[in-house]
Amino acid sequence: MTILITGATGKVGRRVAAGLHDLGVPFRVAGRASTPPFDWTDDSTWGPVLDGVRSAFVVPLDGAQLTRPFLAAAAGRGVRRIVLLSGRGVDVPDYLPPDVMAGNVHVDGEAALRSSPVDWTILRPGWFAQNFSEGFFRDAVLAGDLRLPAGDGATSFVDAGDIAAVAVAALTEHGHAGQTYELSGPRALTMAEAAAEISAAGREVRYTHVPHDDFVRELVDQGWSKADAEGHAISVSPVRRGIEAYLSDGVERALGRPARDFRDVVRDAAEAGAWA
Ligand SMILES: NC(=O)c1ccc[n+]([C@@H]2O[C@H](COP(=O)([O-])OP(=O)(O)OC[C@H]3O[C@@H](n4cnc5c(N)ncnc54)[C@H](OP(=O)(O)O)[C@@H]3O)[C@@H](O)[C@H]2O)c1
Repeated sequence: MTILITGATGKVGRRVAAGLHDLGVPFRVAGRASTPPFDWTDDSTWGPVLDGVRSAFVVPLDGAQLTRPFLAAAAGRGVRRIVLLSGRGVDVPDYLPPDVMAGNVHVDGEAALRSSPVDWTILRPGWFAQNFSEGFFRDAVLAGDLRLPAGDGATSFVDAGDIAAVAVAALTEHGHAGQTYELSGPRALTMAEAAAEISAAGREVRYTHVPHDDFVRELVDQGWSKADAEGHAISVSPVRRGIEAYLSDGVERALGRPARDFRDVVRDAAEAGAWA
């Protein structure tokens, strides 16, 4: 019996695989380039990766309501424990506009998992600190100008390593079933403060607030579709409105230690050559 990791090449899944490897726990990675391959959008690939699996770490595919049928397939094949990566804000009615919330994969994914027969743990991280070094802000950091419609709103960025550590604990230890862990870092930073931390770590970058409509126009000029540009701008709006600034205690609750600070995360990223 093994542990399945979806999203295993991503920011969190890669760290979950490393954590299980360090513990000597058998696991199977599942992605479009794995053997056997796993593609969220092709359910004929689901069965082979679920064979012989007792526990699974599930990283949903954003924009596709596929978590529910995948969880059903997993339970049907004998998976007993599932740790689901969700996101903070799913239970906040005005976190995003109603039509966006209605299409949020994590809302339905969480509901499906809570009513499934498996032992479940839900991880609800806020914004990842690694968005700057491995995710959708990396190009802006490399360009030296983080241009966002975020105003002076603050975000309690969480380390993807902490998210993965909680996932590994939930996959391998007793005592995490039925828990929903909201995960943040230990302090909130404005985008200007985040840029200053990255600069202090060795990669010079400034933050420029760009009004929503100008931001969308800039992205469209760069070749984005209008819909994607709007979606990206809207996803930043909770930061501007200040509702991403609160702290969550999930890392401490699950691991019995404090969450890692943004400063330490970006220092490690710089040392690892994230912006080289
Ligand atoms: N970034 C944030 O600040 C943030 C905050 C809260 C929640 N989240 C949630 O975190 C999740 C993303 O996690 P992440 O950032 O660790 O991932 P990521 O770095 O964006 O990587 C995406 C992963 O999804 C896999 N993938 C993409 N398309 C796939 C497909 N068609 N079939 C199978 N696998 C596919 C990729 O694997 P292959 O390429 O190997 O197939 C890759 O491992 C999302 O659900 C998002 O809502 C993110």
